[in-house]
Amino acid sequence: MKNNNNPASPSPEFIPTKEGERVGVRPQILITGAAGFLGSHLCDRFINEGYHVIGMDNLITGDLKNIEHLMKLEHFEFYHHDVSKFVFVPGELDYILHFASPASPIDYLKIPIQTLKVSSLGTHNLLGLAKVKKARILVASTSEVYGDPLVHPQTEEYWGNVNPVGPRGVYDEAKRFMEAMTMAYHTYHGLETRIIRIFNTYGPRMRLNDGRVLPAFIGQALRGEDLTMFGDGSQTRSFCYVDDLIEGIYRLLMSDYVQPVNIGNPQEITIKEFAEEIIKLTGTSQKIISKPLPQDDPKQRKPDITRAKEILGWEPKVSRAQGLKITYNYFKSLSKEELYKTAHRFD
Ligand SMILES: NC(=O)c1ccc[n+]([C@@H]2O[C@H](COP(=O)([O-])OP(=O)(O)OC[C@H]3O[C@@H](n4cnc5c(N)ncnc54)[C@H](O)[C@@H]3O)[C@@H](O)[C@H]2O)c1
Repeated sequence: MKNNNNPASPSPEFIPTKEGERVGVRPQILITGAAGFLGSHLCDRFINEGYHVIGMDNLITGDLKNIEHLMKLEHFEFYHHDVSKFVFVPGELDYILHFASPASPIDYLKIPIQTLKVSSLGTHNLLGLAKVKKARILVASTSEVYGDPLVHPQTEEYWGNVNPVGPRGVYDEAKRFMEAMTMAYHTYHGLETRIIRIFNTYGPRMRLNDGRVLPAFIGQALRGEDLTMFGDGSQTRSFCYVDDLIEGIYRLLMSDYVQPVNIGNPQEITIKEFAEEIIKLTGTSQKIISKPLPQDDPKQRKPDITRAKEILGWEPKVSRAQGLKITYNYFKSLSKEELYKTAHRFD
């Protein structure tokens, strides 16, 4: 298995530890959401680190294409399974990464009940499995737990501004429940838990049609369409390249820190400036058009990563220019069919 040329590979001073890890045995890790964007990159990373990787996914938003290169490997297994139902895997488990969940608004607005279930029932199932197997579990939370934040940039101490009954509530509240449940298993059962709050991440294997602004703009440029901006484009986002995120996840999993940690790129940009950047990158002659802002769309998003820097010695290394170039080349390499595929259908 060749290395994915990770520009954010671990620095030599970072020494991962897990007390009690079975000595002399290849550690085993269960990764849920393995066929998705982030899950598939995590599978790559842990295979490269010498783990036995068990991927699990019900393929509701994921695609087996993302992990087909792993299927033939001796140390990779795949279970097609919905983690909102009872989860069992035979044998020992050292680590669990719970990354199964629809992640883009276009998905979770169409499948709100599954979204609520995977981060509530699914999290409970995986915490139970971690307890039985004495495994350390890391759950994928999100910057969406801060809702439409009134504090900027967002630190982990900020409790958020979420509308529980708004359209995005199904995702945001499910993730907030996930964090609460995870912390309860830690305090009540003494389980080794880790919580990561992920901010917007991008890179190869994102779906062009997942409704998020970065693939949406690049897809429009590649198809020769105008770039659709919501509102006046003054809302901000900050984009983290996937290799940086994966390194942050790895470091948090191997740390002994149980409180939530923000991982994201604090370099903020307005959507309008971002659209202009994409026009320059792709050389498209299309223009930017404006549509009304969706309900509860966050106006500002920027992580405070002081905690990640102090505790994990982590900060992003890949510039937006570098990351966008790699991602654009990936999207350019897709077939015409992929380029014109409309959003996922769930019926
Ligand atoms: N991509 C981001 O910028 C971002 C930001 C914040 C948080 N996250 C979190 O990271 C995780 C992965 O996000 P992603 O961007 O890779 O999304 P994705 O949609 O590409 O991947 C999610 C995967 O989970 C699978 N899945 C969903 N429900 C499932 C279930 N009940 N049982 C088994 N598998 C199921 C899907 O089929 C898919 O393969 C999610 O938990 C998401 O909330 C992602």
